[in-house]
Amino acid sequence: MAYDLLVIGSGAAGLSLALRVLAAKPNARVAVLAKGPLSEGSTFYAQGGIAAVLDATDTTESHVADTLNAGAGLCNVDAVRFVVENAKPAIQWLIDQGVLFDRQDGAYHLTREGGHSHRRVIHSADATGRAVQTALMERLRDSGAEIFEGYNGIDVIRERLPGDRLGRCVGAYALDRANGRVVTLASRAVVLATGGASRVYLYSSNPDGSTGDGIAMAWRAGCRVANMEFSQFHPTCLFHPKAKSFLISEAVRGEGGQLLRPDGTRFMDEYDARGELAPRDIVARAIDDVMKRLGCECVYLDISHKPAEFITSHFPTLYAECLKYGIDMTKEPIPVVPAAHYTCGGVLTDHSGHTDVENLFAIGEVSCTGLHGANRLASNSLLECLVFGAAAADDIIARMGAIVPPPVIPAWDESWVIDSDEEVVVAHNWDELRRFMWDYVGIVRSTKRLERAKHRVKLLLSEIEEYYGSFRVTNDLLELRNLAMVAELIVRSALMRRESRGLHYTIDFPTLDTIAPAQNTILVPKNFSARRGGA
Ligand code: FAD
Ligand code: SIN
Repeated sequence: MAYDLLVIGSGAAGLSLALRVLAAKPNARVAVLAKGPLSEGSTFYAQGGIAAVLDATDTTESHVADTLNAGAGLCNVDAVRFVVENAKPAIQWLIDQGVLFDRQDGAYHLTREGGHSHRRVIHSADATGRAVQTALMERLRDSGAEIFEGYNGIDVIRERLPGDRLGRCVGAYALDRANGRVVTLASRAVVLATGGASRVYLYSSNPDGSTGDGIAMAWRAGCRVANMEFSQFHPTCLFHPKAKSFLISEAVRGEGGQLLRPDGTRFMDEYDARGELAPRDIVARAIDDVMKRLGCECVYLDISHKPAEFITSHFPTLYAECLKYGIDMTKEPIPVVPAAHYTCGGVLTDHSGHTDVENLFAIGEVSCTGLHGANRLASNSLLECLVFGAAAADDIIARMGAIVPPPVIPAWDESWVIDSDEEVVVAHNWDELRRFMWDYVGIVRSTKRLERAKHRVKLLLSEIEEYYGSFRVTNDLLELRNLAMVAELIVRSALMRRESRGLHYTIDFPTLDTIAPAQNTILVPKNFSARRGGA
């Protein structure tokens, strides 16, 4: 199977890139891989919306300032400007693809979220991701792309050239989950659009597939990875034994929702002057503090003081979901807890999505573009997917014809491995990893706990490598291998940061280092050698 472009991942980042390339080059052979159904990624579950300066009284400077402020001194100012300035055309492109956003009084309705000093979040009620994902999938099915659903990308393939240790990327191996076979996909260019790694934690707002596969693949291929200590915890996920990872959008607080202790008293004003609209790292830490102090298993989010009609029209999905569990949000507060939500770090890229390996790109949550710094501003993520999806597409469109076609690639060799008779090891290690990451590498960290996590992850990695070398690959094994690798990168980065900044808070260094200049945490793999031009 040989392609001009192989896109691994079918969320906002991957689909927007594939559609733009095919619009410019209708005869290009483009393959899009999704680990499960095409729809299944974080994009589908996005609720609040997409940040963009669309109101005449809002300004680019204000959106830039809010993003920099949330990022706590680590944003790349050029990347922030690039994204904010390209937001309006990105939204227009979505509208052209058929995405319907809410309107009010003849204009697009803009909601508000934590950390934004202006109403600037365009949305489709409280299910923006579903509207975006559905429209883009419809376009893709008519685009001429070859769609591989249920294919788990294992590793990218490099062709080594004399004098260039990394060589160039020429394709990828992928597991066909339906029959357990590994296929070889050759391609002139490969794009990692595999989303984040929040499933490395026990409690997460993300779908099951957010296992950091692209970050691990890029790291193994020799790419640098940055800022992995900045795991974002969303303050408000529904707390109910049967509600698996259901998010209660920040827009609920944006529209007046209040956080309450179990006794009904408000607490956010005691932690930050912006109250419930403080950036989410502050809100998540405040909730964590209240829960630890009071020994309670959740706090409450109350918007029942607003008219019922307002609530059901702004938050139809949340209302219906809560009602499933017997909670009527028009009449009573919603029990909520924080959960791992977003991976701010990732594969280091430039403004066109280039990684350190030639012809290998990374876009969307898998990447670290410099937009988010130490903490992502709400609703900047879908925007990043769209803006860098467009920029990487432009680069690929311009260079595709000049890229030397891939060589004949050796097929996956499984002559040395057998079927596993110990699947229990995989299940056990999954559970153990996610639990110690939650307990030791969570919202509030300490050096001692990080060291504990470091020892455990080292042990797991060696067990997993042995297992990987002995048995045929399965979806669970591949995900576990990637999660353990990403856990190691997170722990290592967290130990390197000897201060508290943005999402990384440690009791051993509880304040910002104001003496040394703010530094990104850049991890360099052993097999690194900068690609021509550098990322
Ligand atoms: P995803 O949408 O996660 O897609 C990843 C794709 O990669 C999937 O198709 C998956 O199958 C595929 N994949 C992964 N690994 C492999 C592999 N090994 N092989 C093949 N395919 C693979 N952001 C906002 O800006 N606004 C919001 O309102 C908002 N709300 C959110 C609500 C929730 C509940 C969640 C979880 C996130 C929210 N976010 C929001 C964050 C945002 O949705 C994500 O950051 C964004 O959608 C990521 O898009 P992506 O294209 O990078 O990855
Ligand atoms: C939300 O709706 O609260 C999620 C917004 C985001 O993650 O950007």
